[in-house]
Amino acid sequence: MALNVNLLSTSARLSYNPRVSEPVSRPINATTRYCAVYGHPIKHSASPAMQNAGITALGLDWRYLAFDVRPNELRTAIAGAKAMGFIGLNLTVPHKLLALEIVDQVDEAAERFGAVNTIRFEAKDEQGTWRPLREFDEVRNEIRSVGFNTDADAITRALREEVGVNVAGAKILLLGAGGAGRTAALKLAADGAGELFLMNRTLSKAEELAAEIRERSPGTKVTVGYPTVSVDLVLNATSLGLEKSDALPLDERQFLLRKSGAVFDMIYRPADTSLLRAARADGCRTANGLGMLLYQGAAALEIWTGLKAPVEVMRRALEQNIYE
Ligand code: ATR
Repeated sequence: MALNVNLLSTSARLSYNPRVSEPVSRPINATTRYCAVYGHPIKHSASPAMQNAGITALGLDWRYLAFDVRPNELRTAIAGAKAMGFIGLNLTVPHKLLALEIVDQVDEAAERFGAVNTIRFEAKDEQGTWRPLREFDEVRNEIRSVGFNTDADAITRALREEVGVNVAGAKILLLGAGGAGRTAALKLAADGAGELFLMNRTLSKAEELAAEIRERSPGTKVTVGYPTVSVDLVLNATSLGLEKSDALPLDERQFLLRKSGAVFDMIYRPADTSLLRAARADGCRTANGLGMLLYQGAAALEIWTGLKAPVEVMRRALEQNIYE
């Protein structure tokens, strides 16, 4: 008996919401639909907090879950979500490249950037047209998975909205030529950046990336090395700054931050890096990578729902999850 009383009081506490104006998520029942994120590891992901806040604000009877999926189980896990009528998935490290070979279709951005971070499941309607699974209440016989990439668009959106940099025609110093740096460089060039200066600890990787950009986006001038001119933006895509003891990701003897209008750090945890502090002290406009996380998530939610994502609700949920 005592156990039952405890359960009752727990559920009463959970459903009590002192801020009446805040939407409360609907209880899970047998018609609730699911999205999920797969990663390895996954336990630090802020996506469930962000996406469930968005789903709740849209009034949907959906939930967004997180699963630790090992790379050798990715194919099975995607097939499982498909079989169980999931609306869609997000994929994070280390699955984004692998998924390209697993999904049934890829959209143009996923193809171009060689990575899938969002999957939408689709079924055929009575006319034989593929439609998002959210439009069907009943189990469907044939379901396909379509891979999207919302990371790349999130980069240019975050630069525009968080530090006021329009990529077209801009001069940009990009630090880092790893996975994140490569996607950023290809996207900046595809969006018409005027000149890209690439720097990386392993210079040969910057050289390789420069060659790839010259071939794919001949309109963008690419130089490996620090600029001698002023630039519109310094973008950090290295992992330097994740640890408090990390050195700055650029050599200030070779490039002074005050020669840049803005500095964007793709790192969001911690919120403030030594690069951002130094940039603020030098009068640059600055932002951390939270906006990129937000906009890739907002675009994924729009792909699944067909509705405009409640971006500010999602931003608040992310900030609470990561910083509070
Ligand atoms: P991600 O997917 O986050 O981009 P990554 O592909 O491992 O991860 O890339 C990490 C980036 O941070 C690379 O540009 C890496 O430089 P190298 O290509 O020379 O490895 C950079 N980086 C990591 N640790 C660094 C350090 N101690 N000093 C300078 N750059 C570093």
